[in-house]
Amino acid sequence: MRSKPLIRWAGSKRKLLPMLTANAPSSYKRYVEPFCGSASLFFELPDSPALLSDINVDLVNALNTIKNDPTIRSQLVKIPATKEEYYRIRAIEPESISKVDRAIRFLYLNRYCFNGVYRTNQKGQFNVPMGTRTGEFPSEAVFDEARKRLANAEISVADYKTTLTKIGDGDFVYIDPPYSKSGRFTGEYGLGSFDSSELPEFFDNLAELDRRGAKFLFSYRACEETRELLSEDYQVEVIPVKRHVSGFKESWNDSKEILVKNYGQ
Ligand SMILES: C[S@@+](CC[C@H](N)C(=O)[O-])C[C@H]1O[C@@H](n2cnc3c(N)ncnc32)[C@H](O)[C@@H]1O
Repeated sequence: MRSKPLIRWAGSKRKLLPMLTANAPSSYKRYVEPFCGSASLFFELPDSPALLSDINVDLVNALNTIKNDPTIRSQLVKIPATKEEYYRIRAIEPESISKVDRAIRFLYLNRYCFNGVYRTNQKGQFNVPMGTRTGEFPSEAVFDEARKRLANAEISVADYKTTLTKIGDGDFVYIDPPYSKSGRFTGEYGLGSFDSSELPEFFDNLAELDRRGAKFLFSYRACEETRELLSEDYQVEVIPVKRHVSGFKESWNDSKEILVKNYGQ
């Protein structure tokens, strides 16, 4: 799966996959990802039951359609990758079409938009322009493999707080919240997105997961707020990463990622 992502997603952890897979526990009953995005780690790990959730309705609908509809790729590749078609499809009101058409609209725009960014205006309408050099859809084999993997996954729209209440003993939870400070109102993931002001309360949630017997792996930008985790009884690793800041080639930034887990192996 690593050769080509099914869904292009800002904040996808594809570059960190070797570190993340090396840090995943060797055994667990269920994989849970409350900020699943493109779920890149899920697709990399061995098959297991899973609970994937995200606040983004279109993303979750697309994952569910990939899981349930084996014809999705053939429907997608029929649509010409032209500017006219891109802007025509972008202008369609997603609520006015069927779930499958909504998934097709999302996956098409996701494939051909600028840098795979998901951004909406104040009214919640996707407003990213068409990109260049976006590449084609991944092969049928990638869609088939994803469908098989998702067969055992429950995929839902949920705020992370709701998903965290469903986690218990035997679960492995990979927690990858957005970094954005401006989250709640204008962040890159849209309305209602996680905001760094939620971090202190969020760290209490990690302690609660630990008490319930779940294994968690948490990744975030190493920053002032994550410092307090260093004092907890967790395993912490800080790794350098090159981060794409605002969608332009020149804006690569050297920063550090913190990985925190509450288990040995
Ligand atoms: C850094 S991305 C996750 C990337 C993912 N690990 C991957 O590999 O693609 C963060 C995700 O959190 C989602 N999100 C933001 N706020 C949320 C919230 N309050 N509850 C649930 N999901 C949220 C965003 O829609 C986005 O998909």
